[in-house]
Amino acid sequence: MTVDLDAANFALSGLRPFPVAVTTVDGGVANGLMSLSAGAASIVPEAPRATVSLTKYNKTHDMLLSSGVFAMHLLAAAPDEALEESLAILMALGGSSGRDGDKLAGLRTKPGVTGSPILLGAHSYVEARVVKSLDMDESTLFVGDVVAAERFSDAERLRIGEAWKRLPAEWIEQYDANHVPQLASARRYRGLPEDGPAH
Ligand SMILES: Cc1cc2nc3c(=O)[nH]c(=O)nc-3n(C[C@H](O)[C@H](O)[C@H](O)COP(=O)(O)O)c2cc1C
Repeated sequence: MTVDLDAANFALSGLRPFPVAVTTVDGGVANGLMSLSAGAASIVPEAPRATVSLTKYNKTHDMLLSSGVFAMHLLAAAPDEALEESLAILMALGGSSGRDGDKLAGLRTKPGVTGSPILLGAHSYVEARVVKSLDMDESTLFVGDVVAAERFSDAERLRIGEAWKRLPAEWIEQYDANHVPQLASARRYRGLPEDGPAH
């Protein structure tokens, strides 16, 4: 059976428009990344759950597996100063790895109830303790019971389409470059050739 990959990737793209900043703390070390995999995982309003899927290549993946706690932040789309701070968070956490330095050092934080850093420049957040996880070969899907939450802003939440329009070209270039080894790693974990299909 041949899959129409263009149709498949079109159907699956953009299903989760809100980028989230995921932070955790493990053994006293704090770190975080950006993710487009955030979801709500319960229909029970008095017992909310959150999911996030992290690729095994990322440092935050291993930290979250070990710590079992995370904070998941939405970013603000307005006003302008808040949007600037949202982009600063996105660029700080999503553009490089905590393996190469402390990415949280330049961001305003406070410790949450799980110890995970709470980003004070975010729009809102939930903090969660992991109750289930699913090994998906290239990544892990984490499901967490929400143990704390706070809303800092009444503005709209930032959508990734809006963010891409405003992120500096040099940052996008660096992000694309960082994505190459991440994709190769995911293919390896899936048992696929790491430079992609033969043309
Ligand atoms: C918009 C955006 C969405 C991303 N989505 C995910 C995701 O869903 N899962 C993931 O593991 N990494 C995702 N990433 C990549 C990580 O944020 C990035 O690789 C980060 O540098 C990892 O840092 P770490 O090694 O400190 O964990 C995304 C990055 C961006 C900018």
